[in-house]
Amino acid sequence: MKRLVEIHEIKPILDKTRPFTMVAQAALVDLALQVQHVLAENIRGNFVECGVWRGGAAFLMAELLRHFGVTDRKVWLFDSFEGLPSPDGIDGPAAMAYAKNAASSGEFQNCRASLEEVQRTATELGLKSYTIFVKGWFDKTLARNRDRVGDIALLRIDCDWYSSVRCCLDNLYDQVVNRGFVILDDYYTWDGCAIAVHEFLAKRTLSSRIETLPSEGCHGPAVLRKGGVSWNWEYRVHLSAQEIAKFVQLSDTFILVDQGAFTSQISAGHRTIPFLERDGQYWGPPPNDATAIHELERLRRAGAASIVFAWPAFWWLDYYSDFTQYLRSNFHCTLENERLVAFDLRRESGSSSSSGN
Ligand SMILES: C[S@@+](CC[C@H](N)C(=O)[O-])C[C@H]1O[C@@H](n2cnc3c(N)ncnc32)[C@H](O)[C@@H]1O
Repeated sequence: MKRLVEIHEIKPILDKTRPFTMVAQAALVDLALQVQHVLAENIRGNFVECGVWRGGAAFLMAELLRHFGVTDRKVWLFDSFEGLPSPDGIDGPAAMAYAKNAASSGEFQNCRASLEEVQRTATELGLKSYTIFVKGWFDKTLARNRDRVGDIALLRIDCDWYSSVRCCLDNLYDQVVNRGFVILDDYYTWDGCAIAVHEFLAKRTLSSRIETLPSEGCHGPAVLRKGGVSWNWEYRVHLSAQEIAKFVQLSDTFILVDQGAFTSQISAGHRTIPFLERDGQYWGPPPNDATAIHELERLRRAGAASIVFAWPAFWWLDYYSDFTQYLRSNFHCTLENERLVAFDLRRESGSSSSSGN
């Protein structure tokens, strides 16, 4: 698995596109990670945003294409460039109240930004060749352009109201590829968006899970992945692989305690030994603490440099309390966070530990 760049490395990109979007910073960070994930995992297709306003979220995707030297994908920007249409009763009382004040500056002038203004920004940011603009109401533009759009790796739906969200799903969902992302910016914000999503999934008898992004609380976007692949899970696996790459030397072999969940994805190029191990295969959990300690020492003598517990096996640390005590009192704990706990089997101390999130 290729490494994602860390978020501080793309801070300049976030800073550059931030003035042109109303999307919250945490959601932009997540979007940047999703785009990187698409590129790192070679998930085919273009990037699409329906509802772009001044273009910032779409420009973030385009900047990442430029940053990673990707020239065979585009970012499509669909918008009326005339602001939001009126909500309907199904969008709920909050939407109707919003519409009454829509023209005020506090409501971003009903999310109005002209095509000329947004295209000018794309040119000023040097993103013209990465972007394709389509002006008009979705019920006219999406069906007409979807063949040109082709496969979609990431579809960002940010158009607030029931009829707009439903139109995007009806017209573009089928083009989202397996393992692709559908981001529903307004799922927690507006009733109509949530109703459109549920209605669409029910009509198609789709079992897709709706994932909440942990950092966003109750007003952030939701994510659907095609093919039943959980984003929260894949992201944790990515972070874990990065941490292992940082804390364990590539030349070292380490014991991975993960209940056989994901050895090849998380190992970050290292040689890993499952635990318990028989003939190189995962053999299941130990019957007791003494066996765990005995097996640990056997593998240590055979050259294992570290033991790493991944979160699906964290219950071991409580259940095998003597084994855990043995590790903590004999070996240096090099990493301890919500995803991984690691001990260096060559440094016999066990007193201090470092942590990271
Ligand atoms: C909340 S804003 C988008 C915010 C933007 N994604 C950002 O990064 O700040 C919603 C946008 O959806 C557009 N929109 C909503 N419904 C639409 C429809 N049916 N057809 C075309 N554009 C629509 C509006 O013009 C507006 O620009």
